[in-house]
Formats: sequence, structure tokens, C-alpha cells
Amino acid sequence: MEKLRVGIVGVGSVVREIYQYLYFRSDYSSILDIKCVADPNDQFRNWFGDTFGIPKEKRYVDYAKMFAENELDAAQINTPDHIHAAPTIAALEAGLDVVVPKPTAATVKDTHAMIQAAIKSKRLLGIDFHKREDPRLKEAEARYQAGHYGQFQASTWYMLDKLLVADPNHNPRFFASPDFAEKNTPISFLTVHMCDALIKIVNLKPVAVQATGFAHKLPSLKPIPVKGYDLVSTEVTFENGAVATIHTGWHLPNTAHATTVQSARIICSDGMLDINLDTPGLHEIHPDGIFEVNPLFRNFEKDGVVTGYGISSPGRIYQRFLANRNGKLPEDVKREMYTPTELGFYTSLVLEGAELSLKKGTQTAPGVTKGKDIDLLQLLKEQLGEDAAKQYGY
Ligand SMILES: NC(=O)c1ccc[n+]([C@@H]2O[C@H](COP(=O)([O-])OP(=O)(O)OC[C@H]3O[C@@H](n4cnc5c(N)ncnc54)[C@H](O)[C@@H]3O)[C@@H](O)[C@H]2O)c1
Repeated sequence: MEKLRVGIVGVGSVVREIYQYLYFRSDYSSILDIKCVADPNDQFRNWFGDTFGIPKEKRYVDYAKMFAENELDAAQINTPDHIHAAPTIAALEAGLDVVVPKPTAATVKDTHAMIQAAIKSKRLLGIDFHKREDPRLKEAEARYQAGHYGQFQASTWYMLDKLLVADPNHNPRFFASPDFAEKNTPISFLTVHMCDALIKIVNLKPVAVQATGFAHKLPSLKPIPVKGYDLVSTEVTFENGAVATIHTGWHLPNTAHATTVQSARIICSDGMLDINLDTPGLHEIHPDGIFEVNPLFRNFEKDGVVTGYGISSPGRIYQRFLANRNGKLPEDVKREMYTPTELGFYTSLVLEGAELSLKKGTQTAPGVTKGKDIDLLQLLKEQLGEDAAKQYGY
């Protein structure tokens, strides 16, 4: 087999920003045959179908009908987080390998159900946390795990988007739905990236979480205000007692030097690591202002090919699917793909715990919610029971 026959479920902003290039203009496009698409939104479904030549009869409102009517090898589920589980499980049960953009799902229950479906169907599930392919983070992971810095003690991460990402008054809108920033939080959209990156580097399980939310900027937007958090600071405690604080938000002025202003510092018993994520080295000054360009993430090359870790992260998952279909995926790589870390389980636990922390929190100052301390093992047992907690190493 040289190409995977792929069905796409959901073609909103992540497809517009990233995946259209993966499917049609990347080094991975030659192994992907995009056969059909399902999305109930007529405008987005037809944009995708018309732009990329998907025949009208291969455009579906209902993904179940699409899976039933087409011979496919893989599916990609680009729906909102709370709608990841049902289409993923349907695709796995139909015998397909599945790519899901981060986070695996909005809850541990959904994440667990997806993992169980992958195990039962013996198909592969790949979660596209694109930072996993950022060369700086990969190097940090290898160096930390080689013991260069000793034991992880404390860490600070931040990831702050320009306001235009969350602002429904901005034209064009970043997200397909005007209420995206009300239905989602900086935790589900941004914290999960940093949490997954840190867990990959230090290879430790999280045990407790507490979040503090700030809602000053978003509620003041006009004419459409947003009932949501500008910024959330999440403190995660790990099994060895180490702590990480992850600050994420989407309220930086649109004049910021990058769409996402982000960085990280990891302090350990024998050294530390600084990862300057938003200064990748291409600094430009032109009549519109001064910017940091991040060609490491998504790079529009002169010949029309789009490269960068935003593309290679899902691309490499598809390469593994193809290798597996051809009987060429090494057993250790395959085993690794089924681990809870690789399947984003611990990050889903932090996500649900941080959201719960805020829900149970109290207002301590205007626009400030101080969240409750959440014991993640207790949350896990409540949601999945004792046996499942053991399955995930607790
Ligand atoms: N936007 C980004 O830059 C970005 C980056 C990384 C990951 N993600 C993740 O990608 C996923 C999608 O986010 P988005 O930003 O594209 O959201 P979005 O709201 O812009 O798009 C979601 C799309 O899914 C469609 N959809 C909803 N229910 C469906 C169903 N039952 N069947 C088929 N399609 C359905 C919607 O009509 C819409 O077109 C989320 O998990 C998000 O966290 C987004």
C-alpha cells in the first residue's frame, strides 16, 4: 500500500490554519488520498469540497454515513474537543486508524473510552500535539531523560495568544463558531500543549492541580462580549513533588510580536533549561511592524510546499499508520503509541482537573476566580473506578 485512503470529520479553523496544507501541500500529501469529508456546517464542508475537488457525493453531513459508504484506511477527527470521542470510536470500530488534534478529549471518561476502543479494535490512535515535533522540545526531552539536569523540581510555562484568536468581533473570525471562547477555555486550547510537552520531557504523572482564572479583558469586548477567561494560571503537582505553573491566555494586544507569545523554564536539582519558544530566530522589521516569524511551526516555502512541526507532527503519525498497514512498523514504536502519555491521557486528566478547580472556585477579587485544589487520583477513581486508575499507573 502506498497511500492511505482518508475520511475527514470536521473542517473548521484547524483545517483552515494547518491541516489543509498537510493534506494537499506537504511532504506527506503523497501518502494521503483524501476521499471524503463530513461536517454539518454547509459553508465549511463546501469550502473544503470546492477548494480541494472532493466530489459532491463524497461530502457528508453525518460522519456515520460517511464511514458506512466508503472504503477507508484512516480518519481524522477535527471536531471540537467534546465531540472527539464518538466519531473516533466509530472510526476505530469501522477498522480505521485515527488522528485527533490535541487534546485527546475534554474529559478522562472520553479519553479512556477512546483508548479502550483503540486497544479493542487493534487500530492505531495518534494524538496531534504538534509541540511533540518541535526540535527544541525533542532535544529538551532527550537531554532531560539522559540525566543532564538531575531531578525535575519546578517549572514555569506561558503561552499567550493575540486577542484576535478569542475575539468574535475580529474580522475574519479565527474560529468557526462565534462562541468558541465561551465554550472553551485557555486551559483546553493552550494549557494542554504545555502540559503535554512538560510531561513528555520529565515523564512523570501529575497528582494534583489548582487553577486561578482572570476575566477582565474578554467580558469588556464590544459589541460582542465574551463570557470567559482571558488568562488561566494552572499549578500542577507531580508524583515526585515537583510543581509546574502554566499561564495561558488569549488576550494579548494584536500588536504582539507573535500570534503566540510563549516560553518555558524548567529548574532541576542539577541544572535548568530555558526554552525560548517564541524567538526562533527569524526577526523581521517591515512597514507593518516588528515580528518574530516561527518557520519551525509552519513554513510556506518558495516552491509552495508547507513544512514545519505543525505539519510533520500529524504527518509522522500517518507515516506510522502506513508502515503498520504494510507490516513495517517496529514493535517498540507501536507499543509506545499505546502508552497513556503518548495517547494524551495525563494531559486530559490535568485538563479536566483544572476546569473542575475553576468550577468549584470562589471569586477573590473582581474578575478573579481562585480554584479549589483537585486531587487527580481521586478524580480519576470517581470518573473511571479503581481498576482503571491502576491501568494508568496510579
Ligand atoms: N484552531 C487551531 O489552531 C487548533 C490547533 C490545534 C488543535 N485544534 C483542535 O482542533 C479541534 C477543532 O478545533 P477548531 O479550532 O477547528 O474548531 P472549529 O469550531 O473552528 O471547527 C470545528 C468543526 O467541526 C465541525 N463539527 C462539529 N460537530 C461535528 C460532527 N458531529 N461531525 C462533523 N463535523 C462536526 C464544525 O461544524 C466545525 O466546522 C479541537 O479539538 C481543537 O482543540 C485547533
